[in-house]
Amino acid sequence: MLFSPYTIRDVTFKNRIVMSPMCMYACDGEDGTVHNWHLVHYATRAVGQVGLIIVEATAVTPQGRISVRDLGIWDDNHIDGLRTLTTLVHEQGAKIGIQLAHAGRKATVSGEIIAPSPIPFDETMRTPKEMTKEDIEETIHAFQQGARRAKEAGFDVIEIHAAHGYLINEFLSPLTNKRTDEYGGENRYRFLSEIIEAVKEVWNGPLFVRISAHDYHPDGLTVKDYVEYAKQMKAQGVDLIDVSSGAVVPAKIDAYPGYQVPFAETIRREANVPTGAVGLITSGLQAEEILRNGRADLIFIGRELLRNPYWPKTASSELGISLEAPKPYVRGW
Ligand SMILES: Cc1cc2nc3c(=O)[nH]c(=O)nc-3n(C[C@H](O)[C@H](O)[C@H](O)COP(=O)(O)O)c2cc1C
Repeated sequence: MLFSPYTIRDVTFKNRIVMSPMCMYACDGEDGTVHNWHLVHYATRAVGQVGLIIVEATAVTPQGRISVRDLGIWDDNHIDGLRTLTTLVHEQGAKIGIQLAHAGRKATVSGEIIAPSPIPFDETMRTPKEMTKEDIEETIHAFQQGARRAKEAGFDVIEIHAAHGYLINEFLSPLTNKRTDEYGGENRYRFLSEIIEAVKEVWNGPLFVRISAHDYHPDGLTVKDYVEYAKQMKAQGVDLIDVSSGAVVPAKIDAYPGYQVPFAETIRREANVPTGAVGLITSGLQAEEILRNGRADLIFIGRELLRNPYWPKTASSELGISLEAPKPYVRGW
């Protein structure tokens, strides 16, 4: 199944291998624009036969950057570079998505940082300002404008980053959202819900949301809570939930091969929505097991693709499948 195509809306990925979004912190000019590094890095994985490449967390506002070297999509000036990137990747036969992100209280840029509640991540980080209604509206609008620019730049997929303790995740979790207004308490999902609706006004292609399915804290969220959130996302038209975990609050995570797969499996079964599995998936056999046992629909590969941009070739050999070579590489494939 790993090498079978998968279609969402009218976009077909040639296989189920997804390059997981990974920050490169490679914007030398600190202006969020695409640099040669991004072009080389992503196009290489397209040559390596990845089906879908998801570009790293890309900031919808300058203040929402994890670092000043993050990629950005807060200005129309970003579109040209991103279009060069999508064109390159398309030329190599892969589809390309972008992860729209706001770092919230985890932003390390200078100036004010914002979050649902004024609680720092840990003692090394700054205390964020509690967002006003106006801040919330502006941020939702920034996600919408990011989606509009992503469309203009030629992306096939948009993934909303609602994981890893960044802004949207901070609204979802009771550990980080202590608001008493209509964005807190029972309504912690509202911020994400409004972002999804705003994005849908300008985007009708495949829409993914990345979540952290477990807070690893006694008072935090677990996969049970995310089954309910996933049902709401599905009802709103989200096509796939990319299931990661943690990083909402400092916590020790016992990571082992496939440690997040049970979360993807539970959400897929109980919310009846397609999922992506990610986290210490490194072999073709492991990926095939996940797909064949109905535990996820797509396999996201992170660090293994940093070590080996031709991982799809490695996985195909393991599975005894002959993978077509890019023409210039036929003699060495
Ligand atoms: C260098 C690096 C940068 C990352 N940046 C992001 C990111 O921008 N967005 C995101 O959702 N996850 C990010 N992650 C997490 C990965 O997408 C992935 O979920 C994680 O590494 C686990 O998968 P793996 O074991 O296959 O690497 C990053 C991971 C690494 C190693």
